[in-house]
Amino acid sequence: MISGGGSNLQVLIDSCMGPDSAAEIVVVISNREDAYGLKRAEQAGIAAKAIDHTGFPDRHSFEQQILTTLQEHSVEIVCLAGFMRILTPEFVEKWRDRMLNIHPSLLPAYKGLHTHQRALDDGVPEHGCTVHLVRPELDDGPLLVQAKVPVEPGDDAESLAARVLVQEHRIYPIALQLLAEGRVTESGAHADVDGMPGPLQVGSAESASVL
Ligand code: GRF
Repeated sequence: MISGGGSNLQVLIDSCMGPDSAAEIVVVISNREDAYGLKRAEQAGIAAKAIDHTGFPDRHSFEQQILTTLQEHSVEIVCLAGFMRILTPEFVEKWRDRMLNIHPSLLPAYKGLHTHQRALDDGVPEHGCTVHLVRPELDDGPLLVQAKVPVEPGDDAESLAARVLVQEHRIYPIALQLLAEGRVTESGAHADVDGMPGPLQVGSAESASVL
C-alpha cells in the first residue's frame, strides 16, 4: 500500500521477481490516484488500484474497500511503503503480524514526520531506518530490521534522507523475505528472527549469519 513515488515499492517488486523470493506482489493499492507507484506496478504487470480516501464518507468504508481488494487478490502479507493514511486499530488488528511498515528512523526514536530534520536538530551521531510489524499506534510495533546511517558533518535533511533511503531499499526486501519465509516471531517490542532477538541490524556481523 502506497501513497507516493514508490521507490520502496520498486525494490520490493524487483526483489520479488528474483528466483529465491518467498513473496509475490499480487496487488498495489494507493490512496492517491496520481501516485507514481501505481505506474511502477502497471509496468511490472501487477494489478494496481487507486482507492481515493476522499471518495468515502469515513475511515471505515475506505478501509472496507481496501479489505475487499486485498481479499480479492488473496493477500497474505501487507507492506506499507510510504502509505500516508492512519489505519484504524480494527484494520491493523486484522493484519496483526502480517503487516509491515518502513519508517525513516531508528525506531523507537523519531516516530511521525520530519524524522531527518529532528535527528539533525538533536545532533545525534547516527540515524537510519526500520521495518517493523504494525501495531495500532503510529509507527509502533515489534522492530524487525534496521540499518544505521552515520550523520555526516554538513548534512542537511535532504542529504541525510537520501542516504537513509538507500538503506531503506536494502532492508525492506530483507524484512519481507524473512516474514514470508515464516522466520519472524513477535517478542514484545522486538521481532525475533529464527528465534534470535531482533531487530536484525543489516550491515552488522550478526546479520551475515542470518541472511
Ligand atoms: C520513505 O522514506 C518511507 O520510509 C516513508 O515514506 C517514504 C516513501 O518513499 N514511510 P517511496 O514512496 O517508497 O519512494
